[in-house]
This record gives sequence, structure tokens and C-alpha cells, in this order.
Amino acid sequence: MATYLITGAAGFVGSALAHSLVARGEKVRALDNLAAGKRENLAGIEASLDFIEGDLLDSAALARACNGADYVLHQAAVSAAHFSADTARANRVNVEGTLDLLLAARDAGVKRVIVAACSSAYGDSPALPKHEGMIPNPLSPYAASKLAGEFYAAVFYRVYGLETVILRYFNVFGPRQDATLKSPPVLARIISTMLRDEEPVIYGDGEQSRDFIFVDNVVEANLLACQAPAKSAAGQVFNIASGRRTTINQTVRSLKRITLYDGQVYHGPERPADIRHSLADISRAVKHLGYRPTVGFEEGLERTVSWYRRQLPARHAGSGSLL
Ligand SMILES: NC(=O)c1ccc[n+]([C@@H]2O[C@H](COP(=O)([O-])OP(=O)(O)OC[C@H]3O[C@@H](n4cnc5c(N)ncnc54)[C@H](O)[C@@H]3O)[C@@H](O)[C@H]2O)c1
Repeated sequence: MATYLITGAAGFVGSALAHSLVARGEKVRALDNLAAGKRENLAGIEASLDFIEGDLLDSAALARACNGADYVLHQAAVSAAHFSADTARANRVNVEGTLDLLLAARDAGVKRVIVAACSSAYGDSPALPKHEGMIPNPLSPYAASKLAGEFYAAVFYRVYGLETVILRYFNVFGPRQDATLKSPPVLARIISTMLRDEEPVIYGDGEQSRDFIFVDNVVEANLLACQAPAKSAAGQVFNIASGRRTTINQTVRSLKRITLYDGQVYHGPERPADIRHSLADISRAVKHLGYRPTVGFEEGLERTVSWYRRQLPARHAGSGSLL
């Protein structure tokens, strides 16, 4: 049995990792300051976790969290949705917080650190599919902060020999993704709107496309990244996606079938900052991590809708409404 530290464990991806590792009988420690994450995301497994309510910017909390950990799965970050509320602090969390975590992991003798990175590193270059050899082109402070975290992780392998693996997630979706944000991720928003039997808003003509990836595949990628041979994985960046792109219109058609929503879709104006198409080349992760997305898009949508559906009655009642 190995000990895993998950940072950001009360968030969307972090909680999926926590549930999966607990189910596999691993020892799990969780660090989260609950700024965006929720304890309820860990419902059912709390007794099996060592939960540290602490901040990435608190070096004592990091030292305690890393002590005795074999693997660190670093998910904690201020996400794009929250970044501009306090850009200076958000940058400190994503950049200095990542650096401080790497220092704590190095000092504690952690075997490997997996760092969650973001496809926003590619910016709006029209070339498709995106591959890891492309020159990064971040277009927002959030994207720049995530890229800085990647660079620190890669440098820590080169300079200190701390094994790090950088996973660039594309559009992750699945249970526990927060649909209550001011600007929620597109699938969480459309699903929760359809389940309320309200008209979802699509920005532009809906022909924009994304490389959506169901969260269980991201969990699997993290676990594979812990075990992949250091000579091909350590200090390297890997796209984690499906390798297929789906338009928003196609997604809406699938979701109408799955949610049984039979109303209209409102087409609002295009958002100027939106990237038109996104698609990953996942061949590097397939080759070096043994990664293969095993849960397909449609199955992922079915599982996601059924989770949001289960939240409906209880959450509708109170002010903490999820949907
Ligand atoms: N969800 C996606 O589609 C996606 C895509 C690309 C990259 N990512 C990256 O994956 C990771 C996880 O994303 P997510 O969607 O689960 O985000 P999330 O916001 O649901 O989870 C992030 C967690 O980090 C915690 N956190 C924030 N600041 C902290 C701090 N200072 N100290 C301790 N904990 C802190 C939050 O409370 C939250 O629980 C992030 O690093 C994100 O940048 C996500």
C-alpha cells in the first residue's frame, strides 16, 4: 500500500482521485483550504482519509502533508473561474504554491509528484491537434500561472532529481464539477440547466469544438503517471484528453437525449476570448504512460447526468443549491 497526498482533494478532479484511491485500498492524505472545494465532495470516504485543512502557501502544512507520502497528486490551484477575483493571490497560489509544494516534496523524499497542468498553455494557435512539442502561448494570467507551475515541476527533476510528471488536462467533465460558479464549465452548465428544464445558452453558432475528457480517465492518467518508467516520464509533459473533438451542437444533441430535455437552446453572442477548436494529440501519453481513455464521451455524459440528477431534489430545496 502506498501513501498518496492529493492537493485540492475537495475539488472536482481531486475528489475523484480521492474516491478512486480509497476504493483501491490506498492510504490517502488530502490537503485543501476549501476555498473552492467542498467537504461534501468527500462524503462517504472522510473516515478513510487523513484530511488536512490547510493552504498551499503555508509551508508547515505542506511539510506535514508531504511527510511520509510516496506520491503527490497536485491538483490544488485557483481555477480560471476564480482567478480574476484576486489575481495577485491566485498567482501566488498557482506559482509559489506549486514551487513550495515541490520543495516540501523534495525535502520529504517523495518518490514522484504528478502536476495538473492545463491545455490553456497552447492558447489560440489554430494548429490541430495540439502536441506537447508546440511552443506555449498562454493568453491569460491563469494560463501563464499554470505554465509557470509546469516549468518549476520540470526543473525540479533536472536540478534536484525529484521525479515529476506534468499532465496537461483538456476539458475535463464528470460528477462533482461545480455548476454553481458564476461562469461554470460548459458541460456542467448545460447539463444542470437542462435538468432544471430551462433553456441552456450556447455562445455563438455551437460549431466550436472541444476535446472533452471524462474525469475517470484523468484519474487513471494520474495513477499511470505514478508508475511509468522515469526515463520516459520524469520531467515530461503529457496531454491528457480523448484525442477527439466534439462540437457543442453535437453535445447538446446527446444531452437532450440523455436528460430528456425537449426545449429550445438559446444562441447568445460569441464570446470574444473563446478558442474556436481544441483537440489534443494524446500519442505521447499513450506511448509513455500506457494511457488509454477507457470511458468514452457518451458513457461519461450518461454517468455525469445521472450524478447531477441525483443532486436535484435535495439541493433544490436549500440555499446551497448545486444546480
Ligand atoms: N477541470 C478542468 O477541466 C481542468 C482543465 C485543465 C486543468 N485543470 C487543472 O486541474 C486541477 C484541478 O482542477 P479542478 O477542476 O478540480 O478545480 P477545482 O477548483 O474544483 O479544485 C481545486 C481545489 O484546490 C483547492 N485550492 C485552491 N487554492 C488552494 C490553496 N491555496 N491551498 C489549498 N487548496 C487550494 C480548492 O479549494 C479546490 O478544492 C487544477 O490544477 C486545474 O488548474 C482542470
